[in-house]
Amino acid sequence: MQINKVGVVGCGTMGAGITQVCAQSGYQVIVSEANEGLLSKGLASIKRSLIKSVEKGKISEQDVDTIQGRIKGTTDTSEFSDCDLVIEAVVENLEIKKQVFAELDKVCPKRAILATNTSSMCVIEIAAATDRLDKVLGLHFFNPVQVMKLLEIIRTIATSDEAVEQCKVFGESIGKTVVIVKDMPGFIVNRLLTPFTLNAIRMLEAGIATRDDIDNAVKLGLNHPMGPLQLADLIGLDTIYHSANARYEELKEPQYAPPPLLKRMVTAGWLGRKTGKGFYEYQ
Ligand code: 3HC
Repeated sequence: MQINKVGVVGCGTMGAGITQVCAQSGYQVIVSEANEGLLSKGLASIKRSLIKSVEKGKISEQDVDTIQGRIKGTTDTSEFSDCDLVIEAVVENLEIKKQVFAELDKVCPKRAILATNTSSMCVIEIAAATDRLDKVLGLHFFNPVQVMKLLEIIRTIATSDEAVEQCKVFGESIGKTVVIVKDMPGFIVNRLLTPFTLNAIRMLEAGIATRDDIDNAVKLGLNHPMGPLQLADLIGLDTIYHSANARYEELKEPQYAPPPLLKRMVTAGWLGRKTGKGFYEYQ
């Protein structure tokens, strides 16, 4: 099967990025949100991102119309009925994801591959909400999706070779470099990144170094584009907290236990860039 029409569930930061990248690569995309307000917000963020690309001379104004013409927004999941691939990018809540997959399983054609962009959950647990275990896998994108070149394909114990191969071709067609990993906690990147990020927070919490010195040390000493605390603000402290907890629950390794400071910041609503305050403050 060739993937022609792509569905994206959720038009938040990740869903909007995935929608934009697919449409920019020539795919017809249908993107859904829970209500009209969230949908308008998500579509507006895609438009802003495209306009930025025009200002930078990367695409023309006409391209913006063409790309937007490939995107259809909806609040009705039944509109995914002719998609070949649907990528779910809703909140990291297992019950909500299971509901989404059960619904997609009903409305999508039997040939369709259903993918989750989860960064923290066990993919087979989500797949179990469907009657097509062989066609469910993880497609894990990185933030900002428009810039980051990596796509992790997560294959469960039940995913077919064919579904993995089709997604590999799809991933490369949208300009990503694909890596394949088993459905194990953290996959590749987050399994490495989470302890690193949590250690930076522990270091700040223990007063070993200041926020700026921790970030500068990593930027200048390791040539990372951002320090770990800046990156944590970009990813979202709630996302880091929930995914660290999920990894700790499953592996019981202390390196994944969220430090108390992280829990308190999340409880205070200091989630990073998206709420205007995290380790840094934003306009
Ligand atoms: N949308 C589209 N394009 C964007 C963008 C966005 N949100 N943010 C930045 N860009 C583009 C800019 O347009 C610019 O493109 P150009 O060079 O062609 O003009 C380019 O990215 C560089 O941007 P800037 O010059 O504004 O800023 P920086 O040089 O500081 O780069 C950054 C910003 C790309 C975010 C860089 O700091 C970076 O790569 N940071 C690390 C990001 C990272 O590690 N992400 C992975 C997070 S982990 C994850 O997502 C997994 C999850 O499960 C938690």
